[in-house]
Amino acid sequence: PSEHQPYRTSYHFQPPQNWINDPNGPMIYRGLYHLFYQYNPKGAVWGNIVWAHSTSTDLVNWTPHEPAIYPSQPSDINGCWSGSTTILPWGTPVFLYTGIDPQNHQVQNLAIPKNLSDPYLREWVKSPKNPLMAPTSANQINSSSFRDPTSAWLGPDGTWRVIIGSKRHTRGLAILYRSKDFIRWVKSQHPLHSAKDTGMWECPDFFPVMVNSKLGVDTSIMGPDVKHVLKVSLDDTKHEYYTIGTYNLGKDIYVPDKGQVDSDSGLRYDYGKYYASKTFFDSAKNRRILLGWINESSSVADDIKKGWSGVHAIPRTLWLDTSGKQLVQWPIREIEKLRGHEVHLPKQVLEGGSALEVSGVTAVQADVEVSFGISELEKAEMLNPSWTNPQVLCSKKGASVKGGLGPFGLLVLASKGLQEYTAVFFRIFKGQDKYVVLMCSDQSRSSLNNDNDKTNYGAFLEVDPSREKLSLRSLIDHSIVESFGGKGKACITARVYPTLAIDDKAHLHVFNNGTENVQFTVSAWSMKKAHLS
Ligand code: FRU
Repeated sequence: PSEHQPYRTSYHFQPPQNWINDPNGPMIYRGLYHLFYQYNPKGAVWGNIVWAHSTSTDLVNWTPHEPAIYPSQPSDINGCWSGSTTILPWGTPVFLYTGIDPQNHQVQNLAIPKNLSDPYLREWVKSPKNPLMAPTSANQINSSSFRDPTSAWLGPDGTWRVIIGSKRHTRGLAILYRSKDFIRWVKSQHPLHSAKDTGMWECPDFFPVMVNSKLGVDTSIMGPDVKHVLKVSLDDTKHEYYTIGTYNLGKDIYVPDKGQVDSDSGLRYDYGKYYASKTFFDSAKNRRILLGWINESSSVADDIKKGWSGVHAIPRTLWLDTSGKQLVQWPIREIEKLRGHEVHLPKQVLEGGSALEVSGVTAVQADVEVSFGISELEKAEMLNPSWTNPQVLCSKKGASVKGGLGPFGLLVLASKGLQEYTAVFFRIFKGQDKYVVLMCSDQSRSSLNNDNDKTNYGAFLEVDPSREKLSLRSLIDHSIVESFGGKGKACITARVYPTLAIDDKAHLHVFNNGTENVQFTVSAWSMKKAHLS
């Protein structure tokens, strides 16, 4: 790898070198958090996949260990792909994961800790009965589309259930298996859920969220106090979608309240770069935590040159919004331990067409919270009813396109003369019967290097600006900008590769490129380095 590494992170998880993708089998065991992840020990591109392993007491600082699972038996000899941990009722964690067998078929395997008194659970033993689930001519499973088992859940009937991502033709499937003993798994006739024309469902996740509480619950909880969430990662588009709905245990099916996983208006955890995510229940702090992979937006040649590819997002706590219609996510509180020097700008007016530099923080490595108040909402532009796709709208109306109310927000990783910057901002429109808030992350000016994907991202934010301030938090970390709008109602993560705005040459500004004035206040913190490897 080249010497100068301006894009390596300071507090987002990444190993010292090589390729990483999905988070696997996250859990807390005896007070210690475990993260496993898809890793190529041999290079900066995908291949030779093992489960690398790190542990942490706070989900911020990590200690690496030897890979927990690597190809060693026929049922995984061509790769140890994604999977999940289930904590058995007596507290023992077990893995279900996808192995690639000698015929390159995808099969599901079980592994258990070798020594439960090793606090790090460094060694794992594979079941001699593997594979426990496999495609056969009888079960009609597509052997190249059968992977990524979820955490299993236990019904009151004493039966375990698990889903595996799949497809039949172009219909995405969550294939359901059941077991009494976690060893002998029987495929259900019908999937837990499916949706036409969505293609392969990778990394499904299925879990309960409390109604009217931010607290998380164990994956096996069901009943009137919870709704269920089904998330899938769509291989065809590399985006994740989720629905909120009802799990009918009697029929063993999941029925979304509204919408589909892939529609234009489908809900996403993150409207930027974010994939193959997975949640787990943190029984120490009674919260459900979401981990996700942020892949590169650079070229493969550049990845090879820098010697690594892929990082993980800051773990997020996730819960059901009081509306019941969407999830809310917020970076885990522990990340605030890394906050160092703070710069606070008290409430003031930001005139239309102006910008203000926030100086005094390490802008290349910062946590920024800004909040905007708007007094003259009637000045909002009309929303054209054909503007239904927020990403398309953010591409048409980037940060440099003047508006009425907005664009206003942050210019991050900005070079001195603003030749380079990433803009994260809002625009307010007047819709049919309410104001519509658009949140954008504009990468088009993020780097003078044109080998990077600089697609703009966007989301509609379910916040009423006549009743609430518009808040934005961005976690900036060298080549990552992870943004949370409306206190976590919409999240957008971007990868950017500035050539000028690197190290101590990065700047931070608040900007307003609308015609109307807005009020704002900002708090920005320099972030310390986490212990990552
Ligand atoms: C998702 C994925 C999974 C698979 C793994 C292989 O990114 O393609 O479906 O198990 O990565 O590394």
